[in-house]
Amino acid sequence: MLLLDGKKISLEIKKELKKEVDELYIKTGKRPGLAVLIVGENKASKIYVNAKVKACEEVGINSFHYEFPDNISEIELLAALDLLNEKEEINGILVQLPLPKNINEENIINRINPKKDVDCFTPENLGRMFLNEEKAIKSCTPSGILELLRRNKVVFLGKKVVILGRSNIVGKPLAIMMINEGATVTVCNSKTKDLQDICKTADILIVAIGKERFIKKEMIKKDAIIVDVGINRVEGKIYGDVDFQDVLSKVSLITPVPGGVGPMTIAMLLKNSVELFKNM
Ligand code: GUN
Repeated sequence: MLLLDGKKISLEIKKELKKEVDELYIKTGKRPGLAVLIVGENKASKIYVNAKVKACEEVGINSFHYEFPDNISEIELLAALDLLNEKEEINGILVQLPLPKNINEENIINRINPKKDVDCFTPENLGRMFLNEEKAIKSCTPSGILELLRRNKVVFLGKKVVILGRSNIVGKPLAIMMINEGATVTVCNSKTKDLQDICKTADILIVAIGKERFIKKEMIKKDAIIVDVGINRVEGKIYGDVDFQDVLSKVSLITPVPGGVGPMTIAMLLKNSVELFKNM
């Protein structure tokens, strides 16, 4: 068994990005600028957003951190986005999800200028990714997973990939990206019949369903590659969607939680910030 060490690979990527950002600064006198917006009091979201802001600093990307109260109206938030869409020093905008219930997520996402859509949340950028356009921005967690696997010499062409979860942020874009890589892709959800039988067919099993330690060794094929996107807090401890200890002896490669997919998501966010800056 080998660990898919997202922490280590993300450090490599950040080093590469820092070099690129410094060279861009020498050439243009400017640095990429990322606006990070958080609405309300979600403790997990605050941890993620702080990690994103800190990562920007590490590679020389300017970050602009905006916190809004729970009771901000949708109209006010849309107005804030209009201002950021216009600001020259900001070339990436990230609205941390989920948003409070009184705000329509779709309306907010659709207000982000697609040229500043660092998360690849807008229909325009998701469409470009779907079509596999060369310059398309790619969803951060899925592209982080692909990069983590690639840098561990995993080949996708011809592989059977099973994805658990069908969210707009992870499952769906990941399926498209794997299809574009020539993998054979099955997407499951919590209601899928014969889930265990399907999981057992996977050369690469990617789990993003938010159920702590849900995947046990009976559910996987011997020597499978396992990617665990879950972050579940139970009595102060963090567990993935995969029962790491239970499956360990049966897998060929596996991501730890934490230290697997999470740091890769942030690395890809930084990469997208730099790409948007170059495309301005
Ligand atoms: N919430 C959970 N994951 C993400 C992400 O990658 N980006 C944003 N903006 N919000 C999230």
